[in-house]
Amino acid sequence: MSFKTIDWQDDKVVMIDQRLLPEKEIYREYSSYLEVAEAIKEMVVRGAPAIGVAAAMGIALGAREIESDDMDSFSKQFSEICSVIGATRPTAVNLFWAIERMKRLFEEYRTETVEALKGILKQEAISICHEDIAINREIGKNGGVLLKDGSTVLTHCNAGALATAGYGTALGVIRSAIDYGKNIKVLADETRPFLQGARLTAWELMKDGIDVTVITDNMSGHLMKKGDVDAVVVGADRIASNGDVANKIGTYMVAVLAARHGIPFYVAAPLSTIDLAISTGDDIPIEERTPTEVTHIKDRQITPEGVNIKNPAFDVTPAELITAIITEEGVVSRDYIRGLKGLFEKR
Ligand code: MRU
Repeated sequence: MSFKTIDWQDDKVVMIDQRLLPEKEIYREYSSYLEVAEAIKEMVVRGAPAIGVAAAMGIALGAREIESDDMDSFSKQFSEICSVIGATRPTAVNLFWAIERMKRLFEEYRTETVEALKGILKQEAISICHEDIAINREIGKNGGVLLKDGSTVLTHCNAGALATAGYGTALGVIRSAIDYGKNIKVLADETRPFLQGARLTAWELMKDGIDVTVITDNMSGHLMKKGDVDAVVVGADRIASNGDVANKIGTYMVAVLAARHGIPFYVAAPLSTIDLAISTGDDIPIEERTPTEVTHIKDRQITPEGVNIKNPAFDVTPAELITAIITEEGVVSRDYIRGLKGLFEKR
């Protein structure tokens, strides 16, 4: 890829500032876990898998910041770091998956010296980053076969290289289909209010020379009715064990429309996005973000002063509206309870 979403360089976390794209391509360096936590909250980095990588790297940075050589004191401060990172964004389960993975490693190696443990945690965070790219390529391979040559594919939000360590989940499926030699056109929903589709999906697909057209969120029904959409592919922030999917606000609306028009609706996500501890989507916490994302476009207020605002950042698409869930371990459709559980047993 011609850009890097997130990287570990000289014991700093380096991230492209996604708030500024596409106008400015600025990489920011972080040397403390508190800064990384703030960057996750403020959406310098966003997208479930990328948030997971940032969380792991933030924890590794935090561990390096601890000055004590005493393991008990180190352990206490390590848990505090994990809690701070865990309080950033509630919906994407990849955040908690990454924290748990770092905590497990900590327990496994706590008999080592503090210095050695710091190195082990750093290596793990870097591995999570590299693994994510490999996983996305597998998701791509599994999903790319499902898209027909000559298709126009609608996507919502950004589930691309910018939302992961690289390549992307939903956009990875599209990239793979193109690598298979298929001719694919993309329709990118603008995705109000943060405009991940208009700003980020359009930017990264154009960089790759992929045919992309931006539409506003209220145009998809009209285009589906006209026969201009052949398939929908989106990412996910958390998938419940029954196959209900939390993803960017507006995804549910697209799924209902796709079902109405008989258009396949695919969800592409790694196993780290599947939360088998949650039985249905009703149990998925939905993040409510600041009203200013709705009242303002950049610095300009577009709503009357003092008007009431709602800003839920995600919604839940019921499993019955989903044609298939595409993962690195295979594709599941229909019997999600059995199918999703089965994916973990394959490993
Ligand atoms: O609020 P965001 O930008 O973090 O939301 C991102 C999404 O909803 C993505 O579709 C999802 O995380 C999948 S990313 C591969």
